Amino acid sequence: MANPKLLSLILFSLFAITSAKVFFEERFEDGWENRWVVSDWKKDENTAGVWNHTSGKWNGDPNDKGIQTSEDYRFYAISAEFPEFSNKDQTLVFQFSVKHEQKLDCGGGYMKLLSGEVDQKKFGGDTSYSIMFGPDICGYSTKKVHAILNYNETNHLIKKEVPCETDQLSHVYTFIIRPDATYSILIDNGYDDIPKELPDPDAKKCFTDYKDDPELYVYPSLRYVGIELWQVKSGTLFDNVLVSDDPEYAKQLAEETWGKQKDAEKAAFEEAEKKKVEEEAGEDAAGSDAEDEDEGETSDVEGEDSDAETKDKDGATTKNYMMSCDEEALLPATRHGDPSWLQVQVIFFLRILSCRIPSRKAKTG
Ligand SMILES: *[C@@H]1O[C@H](CO)[C@@H](O)[C@H](O)[C@H]1NC(C)=O
Ligand SMILES: *[C@@H]1O[C@H](CO)[C@@H](O)[C@H](O)[C@H]1NC(C)=O
Repeated sequence: MANPKLLSLILFSLFAITSAKVFFEERFEDGWENRWVVSDWKKDENTAGVWNHTSGKWNGDPNDKGIQTSEDYRFYAISAEFPEFSNKDQTLVFQFSVKHEQKLDCGGGYMKLLSGEVDQKKFGGDTSYSIMFGPDICGYSTKKVHAILNYNETNHLIKKEVPCETDQLSHVYTFIIRPDATYSILIDNGYDDIPKELPDPDAKKCFTDYKDDPELYVYPSLRYVGIELWQVKSGTLFDNVLVSDDPEYAKQLAEETWGKQKDAEKAAFEEAEKKKVEEEAGEDAAGSDAEDEDEGETSDVEGEDSDAETKDKDGATTKNYMMSCDEEALLPATRHGDPSWLQVQVIFFLRILSCRIPSRKAKTG
């Protein structure tokens, strides 16, 4: 009765699963709040945003929840601890899914791995991290997957340009670092596998000094996973966070969660879009209130270009926010529809606004 090939495949899969080391896995089911600590960062300034435990406005399974940013113009910081480990001599896999329901036009969907001792109640933009990984979107020209590795107290950006997804659906991002100091970035379970040498000596001059270090890839005391974001428009939903040593296990987790739900989620999204279009068709040139408000604020922000440039060279946190927010990235705002010149101006200023605010907050914070 049993197909021997299938049987061996099942046995192999079981073996693969049991041999995987899972350092951390979070599907945001009941009890997640006991594992995650919401930081007090920015609370005293009343700019700390609230996480919503939800499956979002569209999803492939309403019972499969994640955590979503729920308030605009807010800082978000949350982290979870796992038993400390070193990735020396083993593969490190960092994976999560993220969905930008708000049609993110400028912002990040990163997660971080942190090491050593961190006061989770104080976790924020200045907290040093070991690895930062995830999509970054600004305008139509910046849509990439960032991976920033901290080596010897310095943050290094991988040079490889890896485009990220820009739609309003869930996508899985996987970062794999191997003991031979190579890394891979996978989007949606490996359809975008980009093997690359980690030291990448041409990318950053400082890396040339390190390229002979065989332990370049080693993080000896990984201990926390965290999300730290500034959001102009909220609606980013994280789910299915994994820290493991096994790419195969990560692949299966992604398949079981994102893979199983993606078609239903897409259908739900298309349904929601259809409804929205129908509703909007019934309204008169909407949104003028919001535009007026934002145009008023724009004057605060004008003339800060040089400020932003100097701050680019500042600390890593500021840089993380700022690196994609250059005017070139903001300009091609007319791709969707065919907005009037005034609309283009408004969109342009909104984009500048959304990119400038983090630098100001980072400076004062
Ligand atoms: C949480 O998300 C759900 C689904 O999108 C939404 O209906 C609800 O209003 C949200 N709650 C808050 C507090 O934002
Ligand atoms: C790390 O940086 C410090 C100070 O910048 C330097 O003295 C040290 O040699 C560096 N270590 C390695 C392994 O490169």
